Amino acid sequence: MSDRTMARQVLLFIWFLSLSSALGQVSYSIPEEMAKGSLVGNIAQDLGLDLKRLKSGKARIYTGDSAEYIELNKERGVLLIKERIDREALCGQTTPCALHLQIILENPMKFFSVTIEITDINDNTPSFKKSMIVFRISEAAVLGSKFMLEPAIDLDVGINGLRSYTLKPTDNFNLKFKNQPGDGKNVEMVLKKPLDREKQHDIKLVLTAIDGGDPQLSGSIEIHITVLDVNDNAPVFLQSVYKATVTENAPKDTVVSTVSATDPDEGINSKIVYSIANMHDDDQQLFGINQDNGQVTVVGIIDFENARNYEISVQASDHGGLTDSCKIIVDVIDINDNKPVINIMSKTNVIAENPASETVVTMINVQDLDSGENGEVHCSINENIPFTLRSTNANFFSLVTDGDLDRERESEYNISVTCADEGVPSLSSSVTLSLQISDVNDNAPVFDKSSYEASVQENNTPGLSIFTVRARDADFNQNARMSYILEDSSVNGVPVSSLVSISADRGVIHAVRSFDYEQIKDFTFRVKAQDGGSPPLSSNDGGNPPLSGNVSVKIMIQDQNDNAPQVLYPVQTGASVVAEIVPRSADVGYLVTKVVAVDVDSGQNHVYNYEVCRTTDSRKSDLKYGRPCSESIISLDSSGTQTLTHVQRGKLNNEDYFDQVSWCEWLCI
Ligand SMILES: *[C@@H]1O[C@H](CO)[C@@H](O)[C@H](O)[C@H]1NC(C)=O
Ligand SMILES: *[C@@H]1O[C@H](CO)[C@@H](O)[C@H](O)[C@H]1NC(C)=O
Repeated sequence: MSDRTMARQVLLFIWFLSLSSALGQVSYSIPEEMAKGSLVGNIAQDLGLDLKRLKSGKARIYTGDSAEYIELNKERGVLLIKERIDREALCGQTTPCALHLQIILENPMKFFSVTIEITDINDNTPSFKKSMIVFRISEAAVLGSKFMLEPAIDLDVGINGLRSYTLKPTDNFNLKFKNQPGDGKNVEMVLKKPLDREKQHDIKLVLTAIDGGDPQLSGSIEIHITVLDVNDNAPVFLQSVYKATVTENAPKDTVVSTVSATDPDEGINSKIVYSIANMHDDDQQLFGINQDNGQVTVVGIIDFENARNYEISVQASDHGGLTDSCKIIVDVIDINDNKPVINIMSKTNVIAENPASETVVTMINVQDLDSGENGEVHCSINENIPFTLRSTNANFFSLVTDGDLDRERESEYNISVTCADEGVPSLSSSVTLSLQISDVNDNAPVFDKSSYEASVQENNTPGLSIFTVRARDADFNQNARMSYILEDSSVNGVPVSSLVSISADRGVIHAVRSFDYEQIKDFTFRVKAQDGGSPPLSSNDGGNPPLSGNVSVKIMIQDQNDNAPQVLYPVQTGASVVAEIVPRSADVGYLVTKVVAVDVDSGQNHVYNYEVCRTTDSRKSDLKYGRPCSESIISLDSSGTQTLTHVQRGKLNNEDYFDQVSWCEWLCI
């Protein structure tokens, strides 16, 4: 009890005493909650009664029907506390609070009023009805928002009653008091600093109510504030740039990357939807994103040759429409999926044989769309051909001659060019170049034989074809087209062309005139064969003149029996008969005469026999006689041209005579 309170009670007490003495009543003021038996007041003294009178008068307390808080001790003449007095129970909030009782005396009957004021002591703590105050406040609540708090109750009155509140901590809220008539203090909580659910989604405050007693009593209640989410946070990607790789031709649904964003908001406000933004229309067909988990997958055909990398912009949006974006840089890894492509830039279909060395036949450009080793290309050609492939610079190749080309040996080449890249596995392609070798007149005609001999019967008809020479030329076509030419020379002082001619195209040798063996037995001349090569039309041909070969031809005239033997002896003159006289006694072996004949023909034709014929007639006559020459009685002894008719095989008769020695070799050879 403070000094001031004490002084007031003392003053009050004195005032009651003076009043009660006059009116036969007395008042006391005691604090509530005094212990049983505590002294309330010396009633005997205050009413001016002695203790005997109290006893004799059987003094007692009358309270009506109210509870008996006070008892009278007649021995001591004092009022004592009989039951503990709770002012709050007795009077509630009513002040002043007093007990009214009468002291009744008998003999004689008399009563006195006693008023006992019960003063409040601070025996009640401010208290709250509920155990907890719960609020659900949006984090978007504006500053100055007010939240009514439930007031505390303090049963004490006056100074001991509720005095003020405190709120702790005071980070976000202040208290504001509002005086309401009758009902004491109302208190509100005012938002002074914005709430942020993402920082603190549950706020616990303690509201303390304090009374004015001494010592002060207080009671507290917890305030639970659940901060309600507002979509005040945009999603945020964990990385602003993602790097990823994808192999070209990766199958659909291949995962390229997974992006992730977070949103500190709650519930639907933190639900993120991923989408691909700002891609070119074409690229959009290539990648897809799972809108729920941010997984980026291949949906189209990734072609390294089309693009080596992609930049995908991904957007994350929450349901409140707040967004963030990130980039995915996707590098495409090359796959060896392109064959080298062989382009023929320039091509010779035909090349003359014997070209200058390293003559370019074909130029090739090779392209492989792949990169790195997958695009590195090497080319080769089939082996054992007189060509080689030179690389002039990257991807350009020339097919050049590398060795002799000889049409007569190989008139056509199929050159297969194969180009392969370095990828694993390697891809290759090839082309076949067909190259014709054109003829150059590099081969001279060659006769079948080194020399020819032929014979012809004399007395031939002029123009007779005697025989044919033939030359061959390994070249082709015009270069092998043969012309036969008779070379000028003379035979026995006459030009050979007056003896023979040759058909230029076929090589047939003709007699120009009838030959006479007896005049010329053989002759030799040269025949030249010349091919049809022409002056060059192109420099490649090298300017070959026509080539020729020559051969000697010997023509032998064959004898014909075109000359009859001539009897030189015995000399015949006119039609006269040469007579030889043979004596009758001529014995066998008698030499009759010598016959000498000649035949200008040669060989067999030159061979002749002598024959004795019986008549002047021919063999026919002879046959008529029925006696062939051999049975002639005169035989001939053949010895060269000087043949003697000498032998008589039989006996001569008178009538035997021989008028002629005839040439009759056709019978007797
Ligand atoms: C070249 O190829 C052609 C066509 O396939 C064929 O007719 C010809 O015989 C080949 N030539 C050579 C020399 O292989
Ligand atoms: C003909 O052939 C001979 C011997 O082979 C040769 O000496 C001569 O030069 C040749 N004549 C011509 C015109 O080719």
